[in-house]
Amino acid sequence: MTDTIETIATRYSCRNFKSDPLPAVDVQAIAQAALQSPSARNRQPWHFSFVTDKSLVDELDGLGLEMLKITSPESYERTMSRGGRLFYNAPAMVVISARHIDGLMSSGLDVGIATATIALAAKGLGIDSCICGLASAAGNGHETEPPYERLGIPEGYEYVVAVLLGYAAGEPNAPHAVDEGKLTFIS
Ligand SMILES: Cc1cc2nc3c(=O)[nH]c(=O)nc-3n(C[C@H](O)[C@H](O)[C@H](O)COP(=O)(O)O)c2cc1C
Repeated sequence: MTDTIETIATRYSCRNFKSDPLPAVDVQAIAQAALQSPSARNRQPWHFSFVTDKSLVDELDGLGLEMLKITSPESYERTMSRGGRLFYNAPAMVVISARHIDGLMSSGLDVGIATATIALAAKGLGIDSCICGLASAAGNGHETEPPYERLGIPEGYEYVVAVLLGYAAGEPNAPHAVDEGKLTFIS
């Protein structure tokens, strides 16, 4: 197996992180990989906010939970039953914000590709991750003190998704079972 295929095959969503910080050099490498992601017409509709201050990650976790309780009680209950941490004690996260171009379809695909690039670049460096759609609860809907400014989210950009980064506490999960029925080969 090539390193890339091995990296893809072993990535999984980590939901229990150690508090250990990430090496700065690895954060830089993941940031470069994010910038190298492809996008439609190379429009790069994104902004990446790398948060390595765990106290800010924890604060956003609290903000998100508060918002989730109001906007999505079912997701809130599921999160509480999984340990009550939206961000699973991650020491770092990448918040991806985007400006909408041609509707969500185009910039949404671009953000999705960048999200996967970040998760796979991290795995290639031995860093575990969890893509976290629920993280948008921490960024949106707050009437007071929205974290946009502190996260460096540019004017006109919207908080979309986050990738939690860190090292797994305990045994890694098995990667999800693949469904061969999702494949068709025409030759
Ligand atoms: C767009 C997107 C949003 C996700 N949001 C969350 C989330 O908010 N919380 C979470 O624990 N996992 C989240 N996940 C992780 C998925 O649950 C996970 O990728 C899926 O169950 C497959 O498992 P695996 O990543 O371990 O292969 C998200 C994944 C994607 C791609």
